[in-house]
Amino acid sequence: MRADWDRRGRKDAMHYVNTARRGWNEHEFFATGDRNVAELISGDMESVCQGRDPSAMRVLEIGCGVGRMTRALAGIFGEVHGVDISGEMVSRAQWFLRDTPNAHVYRNSGADLAVLGEMRFDFAFSFIVFQHIPSRRVISRYVSEVHRHLRPGSMFKFQVQGCTAPSLQRLRNDTWLGVGISEGEAARMAAENGFALVRSSGAGSQYYWLWYLKPRQEPLWS
Ligand SMILES: C[S@@+](CC[C@H](N)C(=O)[O-])C[C@H]1O[C@@H](n2cnc3c(N)ncnc32)[C@H](O)[C@@H]1O
Repeated sequence: MRADWDRRGRKDAMHYVNTARRGWNEHEFFATGDRNVAELISGDMESVCQGRDPSAMRVLEIGCGVGRMTRALAGIFGEVHGVDISGEMVSRAQWFLRDTPNAHVYRNSGADLAVLGEMRFDFAFSFIVFQHIPSRRVISRYVSEVHRHLRPGSMFKFQVQGCTAPSLQRLRNDTWLGVGISEGEAARMAAENGFALVRSSGAGSQYYWLWYLKPRQEPLWS
């Protein structure tokens, strides 16, 4: 996964983050991040914040790329920490975030959050990242890692590929097309990792959104 994303990062990082265009200019590219954050985060603050003050929240972004959404998130929340498998993406993100002191980015292993040590978060988010991961095991590992790093009563909102059509699935053993997640798998992955699946939308489509809540108290029977 890292070799492929580093190659994409060197070739045309902004294009591989947002394929709507080649040859993005920085201003227009980051404006797309502002729009995505306005829609996906600002338009959903009740479930994102779970009653907390956004300026006091520490947020995790998985697969931050060159910081397209990280920068907009840092305008809302107290602290934002992004991880990405690709050093090429992370070094560009560090440059683009050089004037954003409350945003921090790290290269991670591509399957866990060990790079964050014992840091705890109030919200976790991921967009157009898991749709590229060609392994359900890796996606599930991330879910377990996020659970470990979230404070009780916090939300993990993330998008996966929801199309599991067998014809597409056969093509899908690469780091662009990833694997699809069915409704049953989404429910199982939440339950197995201690989350409550409180909402979903777009099942069966590319934009299958999942809202996993880490309960305030562990269930008595676990
Ligand atoms: C299409 S880009 C999206 C970047 C960012 N989420 C955005 O919306 O601007 C996908 C990003 O996910 C990263 N990525 C892919 N597989 C990953 C993995 N297993 N762990 C962490 N990051 C990953 C890639 O390096 C790339 O930066």
